[in-house]
Amino acid sequence: MEAIILAGGFGTRLRPLTYTRAKPLLPILNKPMISYLIESLPKEVSKVVIAANYKKEQLEDFFLKKDFGKEIIINEEPKPLGTGGAVKFAEKYITGTFLVLNSDIISSINFQEMIKLHRDKKATVTISLWPVENVREFGVVKIEEDGRITKFVEKPKPEEAPSNLINAGAYCMEQDVLDYIDTGRLVSMEQEVFPRIIDDGKGFYGYKIEGYWVDVGRIESYLKANQLLLDKLGLENAVGKGSKIRGTIRKSSIGNGAIVGRNSMVDSSIIFDGAIIGEGARVVNSVVGENSVVADGAILSNSVVGDGEEVKGIKENEVIWTKPIPKGYPRTQVGNVIRA
Ligand code: GDD
Ligand code: MG
Repeated sequence: MEAIILAGGFGTRLRPLTYTRAKPLLPILNKPMISYLIESLPKEVSKVVIAANYKKEQLEDFFLKKDFGKEIIINEEPKPLGTGGAVKFAEKYITGTFLVLNSDIISSINFQEMIKLHRDKKATVTISLWPVENVREFGVVKIEEDGRITKFVEKPKPEEAPSNLINAGAYCMEQDVLDYIDTGRLVSMEQEVFPRIIDDGKGFYGYKIEGYWVDVGRIESYLKANQLLLDKLGLENAVGKGSKIRGTIRKSSIGNGAIVGRNSMVDSSIIFDGAIIGEGARVVNSVVGENSVVADGAILSNSVVGDGEEVKGIKENEVIWTKPIPKGYPRTQVGNVIRA
């Protein structure tokens, strides 16, 4: 079986970290987050197609060095084709029932169970579901008692949401789905393809995930995913190779070769490789990018610092990036939000 991982988004809500890095490679406990997804795939999935676009060279580099025991294909789109268009663009690799996965999810999904339900129901599409309080940023479904989904609305106004069950970003599909996607244009799976398949009366089912689920879409949820995995693994901190911890660290990930200076405190934060936290500095609920420096005595709280920056003084609720924005990087959110 093949799995297509949608890994081509710009990750605009995670800037400035994504100015320099493909979102799926953001570290969680010092491991690129796409690793967790690939490691959770069942044996039956022997081929993984990475639907790439933005920063695809970084993804190529990563997969050249790391062996997951599965064939990995980097499939570069000539331009962003959206969540549906990217799947169509991978058509040549699909040989039967297949999976489609958003690359920015950390969850306890049991793929074997989802695939079994898909087969038992003889479904055309089975999507994973998760309950949330605020549905605004997600795809929302109406589901019947037998698990059949009768409505799918992407990012509805709260008053128009048919339930609190959202699309959790992992699908099992039959090849007929590909007939619903035009070649070569931007197509949103969520806005165009799913509603049409449901309207056509095809078997469209929901599989409820049990355990945990986080969409690493924003800095807050990125920090939350880091906390969650520390808790799940029973770790107080994750500390990378060659790092020097001279201050106090709590509930944080510290990258390889990072330095946490004397009398400093890092709490509920993510510190990337090679970053330096100066003496007496405090970093709380923040992300510090690769090789960045938080000066001696500085205070950083609820903030994000891009790669290679220097922070002095007191920073609260700030996004720190002083360099030019990379050419071609969108000003606003794109991905599946664009209407074709
Ligand atoms: N290859 C490729 N090309 N990948 C893309 C493109 C594209 O043009 N656009 C987006 N992606 C990838 C992103 O990198 C991400 O892994 C995935 O597709 C979903 O895009 P997001 O931009 O993260 O979407 P979202 O978080 O707003 O909403 C999606 O996820 C929610 C769950 O987290 C939707 O699928 C919602 O329905 C869902 O509830
Ligand atoms: Mg997302």
